[in-house]
Amino acid sequence: MKRSLKLRAVVSPTPTIIAAAYDENGKADACTLAFYTPTSHVPPCLTIAINATAKRKTLKSILHSGAFTIGYPNVDQATEADWIGIASGYDHDKIAEVGWTTTKAEKVNAPVINELKLSIECKVVNIVTIGSHTQITAEVVNIQSDEDILDERGKYSLEKLRPLIYDEEKRRYLAAGEKVADAFKVGLAFRRGESRL
Ligand SMILES: Cc1cc2nc3c(=O)[nH]c(=O)nc-3n(C[C@H](O)[C@H](O)[C@H](O)COP(=O)(O)O)c2cc1C
Repeated sequence: MKRSLKLRAVVSPTPTIIAAAYDENGKADACTLAFYTPTSHVPPCLTIAINATAKRKTLKSILHSGAFTIGYPNVDQATEADWIGIASGYDHDKIAEVGWTTTKAEKVNAPVINELKLSIECKVVNIVTIGSHTQITAEVVNIQSDEDILDERGKYSLEKLRPLIYDEEKRRYLAAGEKVADAFKVGLAFRRGESRL
């Protein structure tokens, strides 16, 4: 028997990410986001959504600069990521308060948070507001990774990155789970006429 649940946009889990941009004075702003999704392979694009009806300094900074970075906090950085998602840059110097530092990105005019081991540099290509949130689609123009999360083939490893997963349903942070199967392979059992794993 199925039951209808309360309507909401976030069906957990989503990665917890931190978007960062420079404001009109060149100061780095950041906010924590769960509304995030990849949206194109070629060119590589992703979309974030920021609440336009609420006070969000990072939204203003992204719209002003046309660029931002997203970084992935790990499970040891839940406290920092949470504070950056609670306090506003209008009232707090959040990045400094959590003890983090920034460096200008290589390819866009946006700050990279040095303490986040995987950062994606994004150039805004489309903006649309639907309902409460402004959706910002951006082209990925550079990806920077700390070497210690890379495997022997130069691919970042989720086991080493240990990203922070957000569970909107219960408003908590989780760690990613174990590997279950190889994607784009395990399903081929049906092509071979086998039934399943
Ligand atoms: C786990 C988590 C996820 C969040 N996801 C979003 C989101 O997707 N979109 C959004 O507008 N705000 C989101 N927020 C809230 C913003 O991060 C928060 O309002 C922040 O204080 C905005 O800071 P700013 O004014 O410096 O930009 C989230 C907060 C947390 C803790």
